[in-house]
Amino acid sequence: MSISIPRGTQDILPGDVELWQQIEKKARQLCEKYQYQEIRTPIFEHTELFSRGVGDTTDIVQKEMYTFEDRGKRSLTLRPEGTAPVVRSFVEKKMFGFAKQPVKLYYMGPMFRYERPQSGRFRQFVQFGVEALGSNDPAIDAEVISLAMNLYKEMGLKKLKLIINSLGDKESRQAHREALINHFQPRIGEFCSDCQKRLEKNPLRILDCKVDRDHELMKTAPSIMDYLNVESKAYFDKVQKYLTQLDIPFEVDSNLVRGLDYYNHTAFEIMSDAEGFGAITTLCGGGRYNGLAEDLGGPETPGIGFALSIERFIAALNAEGIETKLNEGIDCYLASLGEEAKDYTVGLLQKLRLAGFSAERDYLNRKIKAQFKAADRLNAKYVAVLGDDELKNNIINVKNMETGEQVEVALDSVVEYFQELQ
Ligand code: HAM
Repeated sequence: MSISIPRGTQDILPGDVELWQQIEKKARQLCEKYQYQEIRTPIFEHTELFSRGVGDTTDIVQKEMYTFEDRGKRSLTLRPEGTAPVVRSFVEKKMFGFAKQPVKLYYMGPMFRYERPQSGRFRQFVQFGVEALGSNDPAIDAEVISLAMNLYKEMGLKKLKLIINSLGDKESRQAHREALINHFQPRIGEFCSDCQKRLEKNPLRILDCKVDRDHELMKTAPSIMDYLNVESKAYFDKVQKYLTQLDIPFEVDSNLVRGLDYYNHTAFEIMSDAEGFGAITTLCGGGRYNGLAEDLGGPETPGIGFALSIERFIAALNAEGIETKLNEGIDCYLASLGEEAKDYTVGLLQKLRLAGFSAERDYLNRKIKAQFKAADRLNAKYVAVLGDDELKNNIINVKNMETGEQVEVALDSVVEYFQELQ
């Protein structure tokens, strides 16, 4: 019996992988422009990092982690997200002491969540995310949001909706928390067992419950907007002002509750508005997490970031019918006729490649006609044909596949010939 791929994972094959590479390349280029530097952290971490960092009342920690014991009986977890690992590293490697501040980092790599697989929801998915640590300036909140928006726009997405909210500072959150407890307590018996546990531990999480989403108390729940203190309100106003200045339209939605516990002040999501995108419309999520570094044993450090998955990015491109021009084709296909000429192309191929050209030859003993067909499939710009006679006379025939024009070139200067064409 053959073995199949695990549920909720994907093979990304040639033909599809080029789009992934293009998005990844664009993301890296944009990070360079915005001055975010790459960080690579391990795929697994101590389980405690996520229960403490992401929060042990969240669905991620309670239901979705791939947790295992290693041979040394340590509890480890495949990372479900990238923020807690980045902040762990920030604290552990004392990045708060780096000369370059704020510390602006980005990452790209697989994350793992044991979720019910459906379109746009995988058990292994690739996140691109950024984290800016060490600045309390609302302008960096706007910068982080604009980086995500610009990445989508550069790939051609138009139907985007940005939703923002403020979760306020500690004091505002405390006041809101009390109001939430008072609101839900009298009728908490009507809610699911998870929500009953959430009431005391983290009542904000109730608003994010998928089971009780339609309960009437959800609609009348106290809004954080009414509990923001003066500083939190002023901070949120500035974020909005900067977004307007950057020409980024947004909607304020006081019901936006993110699925992770570390957030305060700014929280945001970017959704796809495209028809046919499916039930899951969130492409990107992020926010501020000023207490996280401290929770993980470091000095008090403000932080903000976002993460988006490449899977949903591609789904959004498909939903908007955006075709990206990929597969440019190779520079040269070396076709040969005769045994000696075939042997010669082994070395010539290497010379072309080392000179910077993409080049290919036949490895299946094809007849010349079939070699031209193979060149066509590779979208070759030129086909260079070498026969045993040409080899003896130190020449090679180079055919421009677009114009059909054919020229004889000295065999020992064919690399220079291609260099001059550029
Ligand atoms: P998150 O909202 O859990 O936030 O995930 C961010 C993004 O990852 C989502 O908007 C979605 O694009 C993608 N995503 C999440 N789960 C899946 C899945 N099962 N399949 C495919 N895509 C998925 C975080 O992870 C935070 N660490 C973001 C952040 C960074 N906040 C501050 N800094």
